[in-house]
Amino acid sequence: MSETHFGYQTVEESAKAKRVRGVFDSVAPKYDLMNDLMSLGLHRAWKAYTVAVANLREGDKVLDIAGGTGDLARAFARRVGAGGMVVHSDINEAMLREGRDRLVDEGLVLPTLICDAETLPFRSDVFDLVSVAFGLRNMTHKDRALREMNRVLRPGGRLLVLEFSKVAAPLAKVYDWYSFNVLPRIGQWVAGDRDSYRYLAESIRVHPGQAELKSMMKSAGFGHVDVHNLSAGVVALHVGIKC
Ligand SMILES: C[S@@+](CC[C@H](N)C(=O)[O-])C[C@H]1O[C@@H](n2cnc3c(N)ncnc32)[C@H](O)[C@@H]1O
Repeated sequence: MSETHFGYQTVEESAKAKRVRGVFDSVAPKYDLMNDLMSLGLHRAWKAYTVAVANLREGDKVLDIAGGTGDLARAFARRVGAGGMVVHSDINEAMLREGRDRLVDEGLVLPTLICDAETLPFRSDVFDLVSVAFGLRNMTHKDRALREMNRVLRPGGRLLVLEFSKVAAPLAKVYDWYSFNVLPRIGQWVAGDRDSYRYLAESIRVHPGQAELKSMMKSAGFGHVDVHNLSAGVVALHVGIKC
C-alpha cells in the first residue's frame, strides 16, 4: 500500500482523501470569513491577479476545479458572458453548496459538479481554460490531476494553478511563526477548529515549491509553463500552456 502526506503525517494513500474531506466539511461554513482573516484580505488580490492573467474572452469555456465557495468561478462567469460557460466543480459537497448558494444569491446560476480532479468526467480537448486555486495541495495524486487538467484543455488552452508556494528566505521565519502560532488560534476562535488550520500550515510546507511544480506541469504535458511569484512567494501562479 503506498503512502502520502497529510500535512506532516504520513498516511496511506487511500486515507488521505477522507481526511481532506473532513477538513473541508468542517471549515465550509466559515471558509470565506477565515480566508479574509488569515490572509488579511490578500487572497482577493491573488485571485484578482489570476483573473487578469486569465484574460478570458466572451464565449470561452472554463473549468474551475476545487472551486469551493466560487470566487474564481464568479469572476470568470462575468467575463465569458452568456455565450460562454464556467463549470464550478469540487470534490466536496459542503464547499460546493456554500459556493452555489453564494453564486445564486448574486444572480449567477452555473453548472455545478461534484468531481475528483484526478478523474475528470469530461471529454478531451474541451476547455479554453482550467483553473485550480488552493486546491492542488490537497490532492493525493497531483501528477494524475495535472494530466487530467491537460487532457480536458483544448490545444493552446491554459491551466492556471494558484497555490501556496515557497516564501522568500528572509521572510521564512516570520511566516513560519505566523503559520504555526497565529493561524491555528484564529481557526480555534472563529471556526472552533484548530486542527484543520494546523493542517493548512503543514500542507503548505510539504507542497512542491515553484520549480518543482513547474517541472511536474511539464511532465504532465504542458509545453510551456510560466511562474508568477506573488507576495514574495507566499503564493505562486503557475500558467501552463497545452502545446
Ligand atoms: C482551500 S479550498 C479552495 C477553494 C477555492 N478554490 C478558493 O480558492 O477559495 C480547497 C478545495 O480543494 C478541494 N479539493 C481537495 N481535493 C480535491 C480533489 N481531489 N478534486 C477536486 N477538489 C478537491 C476541497 O474540497 C476544497 O474545496
